[in-house]
Amino acid sequence: MESILNNRPALAAEVEKAAEVAGYLWQKGWAERNGGNITLNITEFVDDEIRNMPAISNVLSIGTCLPYLKGCYFYCKGTQKRMRDLARRPMENGAVIRILDDCASYVIIADQPVMPTSELPSHLSVHNYLIEHGSPYKASLHTHPIELIAMSHHPRFLKDDVAGTLLWSMIPETKAFCPRGLGIIPYELPGSVKLADATISKLADYDVVMWEKHGVFAVDTDIMSAFDQVDVLNKSALIYVAAKNMGFEPEGMTETQMKEMTEAFNLPK
Ligand code: 13P
Ligand code: ZN
Repeated sequence: MESILNNRPALAAEVEKAAEVAGYLWQKGWAERNGGNITLNITEFVDDEIRNMPAISNVLSIGTCLPYLKGCYFYCKGTQKRMRDLARRPMENGAVIRILDDCASYVIIADQPVMPTSELPSHLSVHNYLIEHGSPYKASLHTHPIELIAMSHHPRFLKDDVAGTLLWSMIPETKAFCPRGLGIIPYELPGSVKLADATISKLADYDVVMWEKHGVFAVDTDIMSAFDQVDVLNKSALIYVAAKNMGFEPEGMTETQMKEMTEAFNLPK
């Protein structure tokens, strides 16, 4: 079958990684029905043939103007598509889009006219921010991790850095592999530009943010690394829940132990 991935091994490898992550999200119970979404900035893999590919959709509006995305290309999970299906057939459950010169609209170019995720405003606003700030990050992930979402139902964990600091203290690796912690975004309507704006307002300080009572949004160099950051945070949340289920509040690593670990691993304070 004709596919944009044919004879483009580097591009195919990135999309295959998204498919692999989609399978993990389903296995973890974080991707009920169509829950969660993935976008990849694939502009670096685009050749003249791709640049000349005709649109296979109407011109569609992003809902906001994103000047750094002019001429960029993204792989996007399709709206209402299931991660468990994307895991096996990424180009039937996602599509490649081209951002047009007005920076506020896009067209689908391959392989099929699969409408992008409803969270496109957040994903694209984040990619716009990353390019503006010269970041090497190319992938963004939104998912519904059970225990992290549960924590966002308690006001105590909605204060800045309370949940993040607690999660870091559950096991040393969490700070090592999610060194910027967990930002908190108060509830906003899914798919809204307000949610997108709130998300980018936290990215200067965090790679992973919690959308209150909804899920998390993570960015990293590739989709596997973005997944890993959420995975270590949720592992800590599971340890916290396990201790609570045994009937006690977990002690957590002490401040001295955290400080020692932060210095030994050369992590941000
Ligand atoms: P989509 O199916 O539109 O990607 O939406 C899933 C989701 O998790 C919305 O927040
Ligand atoms: Zn969601």
